[in-house]
Amino acid sequence: MLLVTGGAGYIGSHFVKEYLSKPGSEVVVVDNLIEGHRRALHSLGDELTKRIHLIEADIADERTVADAMERYYVDSVMHFAGFCYVGDSEAEPSRYFENNVAGSLKLFKVMDALGVKKLVFSSSCATYGDPQYAPLDELHPQNPVSVYGLTKYLIEQALWSYGRTKNWSTVCLRYFNAAGADESGLIGESHEPETHLIPRVLKAAKGEIDHLEVFGDDYETDDGTCIRDYVHVNDLADAHIRALDLLNVKTYSEAINLGTADGASVKRVIDLSKEVTGRDIKVKYSKRRPGDVAKLVANCSKAKELLGWQPKYDLRKTIETAWNWEQNRRY
Ligand code: UFG
Repeated sequence: MLLVTGGAGYIGSHFVKEYLSKPGSEVVVVDNLIEGHRRALHSLGDELTKRIHLIEADIADERTVADAMERYYVDSVMHFAGFCYVGDSEAEPSRYFENNVAGSLKLFKVMDALGVKKLVFSSSCATYGDPQYAPLDELHPQNPVSVYGLTKYLIEQALWSYGRTKNWSTVCLRYFNAAGADESGLIGESHEPETHLIPRVLKAAKGEIDHLEVFGDDYETDDGTCIRDYVHVNDLADAHIRALDLLNVKTYSEAINLGTADGASVKRVIDLSKEVTGRDIKVKYSKRRPGDVAKLVANCSKAKELLGWQPKYDLRKTIETAWNWEQNRRY
């Protein structure tokens, strides 16, 4: 049985839906529902929901996690749970260290005690820090510049140690900018407050916020705004399934980038969003947001080689699915 931490969260819930598309499959979800949404799992419909064993608990709750692992004969873990905002992590480092690092270490302790050795981890391109070249491959030095990036880096290091000392098989998937929503419109991105670019652009299109604030147009990029690599959440889900398949074949300790290799500026996201929504989007330019770097784009050759993975969604399609969700959100 597979245990999914953070399975009611944005990326976790998209993974759960994809995983359960295999008839008869079941998952155990451990989620404290701080960032995750019970409704995300309930929205999937009765047939899928009945195959999800939701345990409302923190990953740091060793006893509950151990009970779940024993009760359901867990042999692999998908570890999505974690706080994910760079800005918050700088404001509240203790919260991020405690939740992301200490929580993960407790999860690993329980896995170790029960002999569970297979894990796929949601890491981030934020572990690289300021890019020395672009696109970024997995050999780029890791010098995280935010607390958030550091928490992900520390967890990766812990996993390499378990690989070396206890023969664990692990894959750290370093996401670039996760975006979009499931095409069904049943699940999507829902953070409170929402700080990510695409949902904020679409909220401006909807009139839910008056305008989009663009943080800086004086970067050394073609149009002066920051470039990011927006990868669709279902493509991420697909990569997780492939990573899990890999762990079932042999023992790995690997880190793999997940992006599209297609960098898009903030202005390009706004222009495409205007086309997709057919609405005007009011924009105001302000100064740079602390911690932002000019350009983050993935080299995804390793994902293609090792996982046979290629993103299916381009930026337009990603924005279309996000717009579909944004107009009919359920949570
Ligand atoms: N941006 C704006 N206005 C907004 C929101 C964002 O101009 O209202 C800009 C940002 O300055 C940045 C770009 O849009 O240049 C993307 O910003 P996001 O906040 O959407 O995403 P980030 O790149 O800052 O961070 C995201 C995730 C992190 C992850 C990181 C890796 O939140 O978890 O991608 O790049 F580590």
